[in-house]
Amino acid sequence: MQYAQILGTGSYLPANRVTNEDLAQRIETSDEWIVSRTGIKARHVAADDQKTSDLAVEAARCALADAGVAAEEIDLIVVATATPDMQFPSTATMVQQKLGVAGCPAFDVQAVCAGFMYAITTANAYIRSGMSKKALVIGAETFSRILDWNDRGTCVLFGDGAGAVVLGASDEAGIIHSKLQADGNYLDLLKVPGQIMNGAIDGSPYLQMDGPAVFKFAVKSLARVAEDVLAEAGMTADDVDWVVPHQANQRIIESTAKHLGMSMDKVILTVAEQGNTSAASIPLALDFGIRSGKIKRGQTLLLEGIGGGFAWGAVLVKY
Ligand code: ACO
Repeated sequence: MQYAQILGTGSYLPANRVTNEDLAQRIETSDEWIVSRTGIKARHVAADDQKTSDLAVEAARCALADAGVAAEEIDLIVVATATPDMQFPSTATMVQQKLGVAGCPAFDVQAVCAGFMYAITTANAYIRSGMSKKALVIGAETFSRILDWNDRGTCVLFGDGAGAVVLGASDEAGIIHSKLQADGNYLDLLKVPGQIMNGAIDGSPYLQMDGPAVFKFAVKSLARVAEDVLAEAGMTADDVDWVVPHQANQRIIESTAKHLGMSMDKVILTVAEQGNTSAASIPLALDFGIRSGKIKRGQTLLLEGIGGGFAWGAVLVKY
């Protein structure tokens, strides 16, 4: 069986950078409150004419160039998103069309902030089974479209962006091991309940969240799944060079690192400048870690993330 190796990475952030001070001019909040609770200082917001697929294509082009792979060589496109351009068709087919290619399977994966864990695990399974040789895996979101910008409890937390990886079949790992989990009993903690029905939206079209409950669940589940994926691979935290976590909140990230007994010096952090970009946050952080020279070829990475559902997972990678 072949392994899936990361051939290249890419990312994209919209130009419009919105700081905490900008938000404090519109709603009752402060830079001090947001930074002390979350570590977030700024986030990027897509332009009115930019859709999730536009962000995804920018990141994809970057990853393809980094991998030295032409779009025509890609035989699988998986897009993780909770903010698709349309109810249907999938954002992945829009990315395919914008890349000017056709024919290969293209579909979306919906696991909210854990979406990239689910998408890369799915693409890994395609490669391991011989169904794909070169896969494009993207996490892309425009959460700015599903936020109530008057709700200070949620709108300060999120941002827009996209990250992508090109995976290729190889005799050497690659993706070492992956573990995905979900528990639908917690779906009310974080949701956008609105549904298109009979020509109108039934229920709120805005993100709703029980912040403290999400915090507790995230800390407990991420620590457990990170331990499990390492144990199942016969490895320990000492074998990990870099943790590339979902960037929801710096305190959640610190708490997971502490639980694993890992120094924050081994954690890639982008939350301060990007906020929580949901399914895009892990590939954005991965690309940042690589392009900033921190992550080097041959190093072992622990990717981990959690989101609404709840759904969560961790992936071990030899880069
Ligand atoms: N500015 C100022 N005050 C605020 C703001 C704000 N932006 N938002 C809430 N407050 C107020 C509340 O109204 C409340 O005031 P009150 O006591 O007068 O009622 C007070 O701050 C405390 O609110 P709490 O919700 O108890 O604050 P907490 O310390 O729990 O922090 C936070 C809230 C930051 C949302 C925290 O619970 C958290 O980070 N949770 C995790 C959420 C998360 O990461 N979600 C991302 C999606 S899921 C994922 O990706 C894992």
